[in-house]
This record gives sequence, structure tokens and C-alpha cells, in this order.
Amino acid sequence: MDKLVVRGGKALNGTVDISGAKNAALPEMCATLLTADTVKLINVPRLHDVATMRKLLANMGVETETHGERGGMSFVAADSITPEAPYELVKTMRASILALGPLLARFGHAKVSLPGGCAIGSRPVDQHIKGLQAMGAEITVEHGYIMAKLPAGQKRLHGARIVTDMVTVTGTENFMMAAALADGVTVLENAAQEPEISDLAEMLIKMGAQIEGQGSSRITITGVAKLHGCEHAVVADRIEAGTFLCAAAATGGSVRLNHARGEHLDAVIEKLRDAGATVECGEGYISLSSPGARALTAQGFRTTEYPGFPTDMQAQFMALNVKAEGASVITETIFENRFMHVNELVRLGAKIEVDGKTA
Ligand code: UD1
Repeated sequence: MDKLVVRGGKALNGTVDISGAKNAALPEMCATLLTADTVKLINVPRLHDVATMRKLLANMGVETETHGERGGMSFVAADSITPEAPYELVKTMRASILALGPLLARFGHAKVSLPGGCAIGSRPVDQHIKGLQAMGAEITVEHGYIMAKLPAGQKRLHGARIVTDMVTVTGTENFMMAAALADGVTVLENAAQEPEISDLAEMLIKMGAQIEGQGSSRITITGVAKLHGCEHAVVADRIEAGTFLCAAAATGGSVRLNHARGEHLDAVIEKLRDAGATVECGEGYISLSSPGARALTAQGFRTTEYPGFPTDMQAQFMALNVKAEGASVITETIFENRFMHVNELVRLGAKIEVDGKTA
């Protein structure tokens, strides 16, 4: 879709089924590279990045198939696939870097393009490279490609203690997947704690991996010789749920989100309650009702790693704040260039000033 036409002025009311999380589905699609068996994912969301990841896997020779209405997708990565991810596909989606860990762990070599530019900042992959090197990989960057292999005579990566300079979500996922098939124990310090990490760990455990500590800042993985197929349902998308909550709050509506997980959105829900919305969380749903934007008060926040306020909800909450009463201060600490929506909101009449990381 090139254009969305929105005729505003209406409260958004209704019930929505929340999809599977994009940020869980993408690493989980890459995890299917860790075995030659069939892996079936259900609740895979229908969106562009998922289609790109499917193309990336198919381009390597992975057989993929969709099943039915519930977002079913199966994958078979035979021993004969080509462990390469070309620039043409990687440049459109940074998450392609998630193929590096599993390919290297299973095939002993991989060629994955560097991601290239990105709309929300430079987003390097130095930590991914550093961590895999600690596990014994020999990595060079040649002509924009990450060339990774094992030293001569070595069949597998080895366990390592990996301490990243900052908390990285896809980095943690890459290491967890690589470590699942490595020799010995890997300890990830400063690991990301996002629910999508725990969901990927659950899937890997179903495949035979030995993982402990997912959801905390230290994850311990004991490598196994082989992983097998499994069936796994992708966790609900907390960002999609949070987006509907902000939309209903900003328009004075009321929504019920089925399959949503309130415990994954604590920081956002707290701010919505502080603003004056009524939010209820139960088994498999979140509901919100809003007294109208003018009866809400704008809320300040800082984006931080999970369980803090998610950077992926920063723009939506800012849109809510510009409709609410009062001024607020928003600080973006994860990405250096994630205020592109500000000028568009200003064009719509919002009063926002940006100074560095703060709006
Ligand atoms: C993931 C999410 C994205 C979310 C982000 C932060 C997926 C597919 N995407 O992105 O939606 O906005 O987490 O919650 O899950 N960094 C480095 N070097 C590295 C890796 C990261 O400098 O090797 C920096 C990044 O530039 C950024 C910060 O670390 O400033 C966090 O990035 P990271 O957590 O890796 O984000 P992604 O995993 O790319």
C-alpha cells in the first residue's frame, strides 16, 4: 500500500485479535536453519518483513510452505542449502543478520551481507561479530559481506562467556542460536530480556536445546550435537497491542485486544493509567477505555531496554501525548535518530521541540 487515507474525528472502538510478534517470528524463522527436520511455526504475522525473511531462506534453498488461516508456515533446511544471504535482500531488512549465528553453527561457514543504511540510525553489527568471534569463528568483512568460518580442522563453534558493550536484542538471539549447537557452555552476560528472547528460547528448547536464564540478563546455553524439528506458536505482538491501546486512548474509544499479554506491556500500561485511561488485563486479553484525549494528561518517559518503555512504542505514545492535556518530555535512549515522526506531527499542528535525544 502506497497511501493510507484516514478520515479522523471518530473514537476507535472494538475488538481486535492481536497477531504473532514480528520480532519473535523473524528470529524463529532463522532458527529453522538449525535442523534438517521440518519445523512448523504457527501464528506467523502476515507482513512485509516476514515475506522478505521467507525469500531470504528460500534463496538459500530452504523449502517453505504456508498452512491455513492461523499463520502456519513450515520450513525444511536440508543439509544441501547454501548458507548465504545476499545484499539485495539483507539491505531491505536488518533482521537478516539473524541468519548468521544459526548458519555458522550448523554449516561451519556463512556469508551474510552487512545490513547497510537504516532509517533509525546507523545500527552497527559489531557486537554480533565480536560475540561469534569469542565462540571461535574467524570473521572478515569483504566487499560488504561478513565472511564467517571455523578454523581449519574445527567442526563446531565452542562455548564462551560473551559480554556485549550494550544490550542487543538480535545480538542475544544470534548468540543463543549459535550456542545451541556449539561445543560446551556459553554464558551471555548483559543479555536482552525481551519477551521475544524468551519465546525464541522456548522454541529452541522444543528443538532439543539446553537453555537457562532466558528473560534475565544472564542466559546459559549448553550446546548439543543436534537439534530436531518442532511446532511452535509465535508469542503475541506487544507492540501491535500497545499501538491499539494508544489509538483507542487518543481517540476516546474503548478496545478489547484478544490474545494480548498485559504482562509484556507493563511500562506502557502504567503510563496509560497515569494518563487517565482505564486498562484491564486478564488471561489472554487487555482492554482499555478512554475518557477522551482532552481528559488525559500527557506523560513523560525514557525509552530503555525491556522491561523499560519500548523504543518501538515511542512514536505512538508521542502521538497520544500531543492530543492529551499538558506538556511532556520524551527521551529516546536506544536509537540516535528515532524522531522522524516529529516533523510529521508538527505538520499536523503538534507543538514539539527536539533537542538531541529529547523531545
Ligand atoms: C530489535 C528489534 C527492534 C527494536 C530494537 C530495540 C528485532 C527484529 N528488532 O532491533 O524492533 O527497536 O531491538 O528494542 O527484534 N548496537 C550496536 N552494535 C551491535 C548491535 C546493536 O551498536 O552489534 C546498538 C544499536 O545501534 C542500538 C542498540 O545497540 O543503538 C540496540 O540495538 P539492538 O537491540 O541490537 O536492536 P535490534 O536487535 O536491531
